[in-house]
Amino acid sequence: MATYGEGDATFRAAGSEEGIFTLVNTFFDLMRDTPRYREIWDMHPGDKAVSRDKLARFLCAWTGGPRLYREKYGPISIPPAHAHLKVDARLRDNWLACMGEALETCCYPEEFRQYMLAQLAVPAERIRQACERNL
Ligand code: HEM
Repeated sequence: MATYGEGDATFRAAGSEEGIFTLVNTFFDLMRDTPRYREIWDMHPGDKAVSRDKLARFLCAWTGGPRLYREKYGPISIPPAHAHLKVDARLRDNWLACMGEALETCCYPEEFRQYMLAQLAVPAERIRQACERNL
């Protein structure tokens, strides 16, 4: 098996487009239904179907798959896209914990879950830094 991070190995390990959309829907359902994460749900404006679509499309390219976000919504840089929010260390960690629960609910192997969370922690921390500048 190819090492995660090489080519589209992570995208395929996530179950390709279908797997990533399922993961993101599970992530948003947990965010909506779990008191600890509800605050992040409430920070998302308007139609959560759009938020789900945006994150799923973004993660397809981010894992080495097709550039579905750019196709529909245009180019994006993740820290500036969050800079108007107030994301501190607590919210960053809650977002990652929610994703951890979603990865577990979707029954990915332990090794893959650890890999994804370690990778996602990088943009999550960059977001915190971008937001901190505006606090
Ligand atoms: C650090 C914790 C995070 C929090 C609290 C958070 C929260 C949010 C919120 C509230 C929005 C909606 C913003 C708006 O439309 O006004 C959003 C959008 C988005 N987030 Fe995050 N997010 C976090 C981390 C991440 C990470 C790590 C990624 C990707 C690896 C990501 C990808 C996205 C994408 C693609 C959008 C849509 C942006 C757009 O199209 O404008 N987020 N996030």
